[in-house]
Amino acid sequence: MNAVPQGKRVLSGMRPTGALHLGNYHGALRNWVELQYQYECYFFVADWHALTTGYDDTAGLPQAISEVLIDWLAAGLNPGVATLFVQSHVPEHAELHLLLSMITPLGWLERVPSYKDQQEQLKQKDLATYGFLGYPLLQSADILLYRPAFVPVGEDQVAHVEITREIARRFNHIYGREPEFEQKAERAIKELGGRNITLYRQLRRRFQEAGDAAALERGRALVEGNTRITVADRERLLGYLEGTSLSILPEPQALLTSTPRVPGLDGRKMSKSYGNTITLREDPDQVVAKLKAMQTDPARVRRSDPGDPEKCPVWDLHKIYSDEATRQWADQGCRSAGIGCLQCKQPVIDRIVEEVTGMRRRAQEFQDNPELVANLLGEGAEKAREVARATLDEVRHAMHLRRQ
Ligand code: TRP
Ligand code: SF4
Repeated sequence: MNAVPQGKRVLSGMRPTGALHLGNYHGALRNWVELQYQYECYFFVADWHALTTGYDDTAGLPQAISEVLIDWLAAGLNPGVATLFVQSHVPEHAELHLLLSMITPLGWLERVPSYKDQQEQLKQKDLATYGFLGYPLLQSADILLYRPAFVPVGEDQVAHVEITREIARRFNHIYGREPEFEQKAERAIKELGGRNITLYRQLRRRFQEAGDAAALERGRALVEGNTRITVADRERLLGYLEGTSLSILPEPQALLTSTPRVPGLDGRKMSKSYGNTITLREDPDQVVAKLKAMQTDPARVRRSDPGDPEKCPVWDLHKIYSDEATRQWADQGCRSAGIGCLQCKQPVIDRIVEEVTGMRRRAQEFQDNPELVANLLGEGAEKAREVARATLDEVRHAMHLRRQ
């Protein structure tokens, strides 16, 4: 039933912070829904991450986890296509985190921008904990465990993917050495067979001598696309291509989501902490009431005052939800005072009500059957663990920790 081309993996996670809103949808989820049909995708609820800033209040976690999961399903994530799971159901995340912690310089963690920022922003919380300092490393373990090619994230998480790449590089450098590596790699090249042997050598030379990134990319594709070689040889060839060590934990790339600005009801960015949101499964009557009361261009006091869409958050919604013709109608009607704000909002209201109604419909069967959600998560964790175990086996082996 898996229609997705196997090969490149995508992984991302989200903290369980309660009901998701339209900002989360257009900022991340909608992109995940598309990615699931293009890559082998793993999406997880980062419940341990919630503890790094909220260890004293965990009673709401089970509820928050199922809310997020149902929102994902409502938004169109398909558990028959993507693997959906909860972080704490896959204890391998903790083992890899522990092992990576041994090679992580404290300075790397202290320098992550969110460390100081959040400590300042969340002054009322005690964030001087070991867990909070280590949270970017936990995220690195989350990622590296699945050896994904891409990690779709927002701007604020790019630094975390960057540290993940540094950790991977350091791990490979320390543990990716094996006796007679070069000889083994040379032997592995022959296993590629035929013209690929020369091609690999050319691409490697072009990357190593001229820093040609496209050659590196092609070289990787050549190795990853070859089904005849063993896993060990694949790692040797990837490592040999880039440098001199085994690539046990390949470096992932951040996939920056290009996101529209989703305005909240008060015109500021839509955010749970501002209390200006429309949630994915909001009651349609409530949606209508909220949007009718939404902030517009403050200069448009009376119906006869012309307005400026650039100063109006409703216009940002038109950019997301309306077609070209509707946008022109709104733009002209606003500037000429030809239409009123309620009129202008109507097409947006219709589209959002339609969207939310679809989400509510998809969520219904899961809301009615909690065991459906539990089963789905059980299967997700099983699938995730298969991949996680395979990575950890190699990690343990490289560190001489394999069970006898
Ligand atoms: N730290 C991320 C956030 O706060 C959530 C997260 C945890 C994550 N582990 C991850 C995202 C791994 C991407 C990959 O939003
Ligand atoms: Fe905003 Fe539309 Fe009113 Fe203009 S007419 S101020 S774009 S809601």
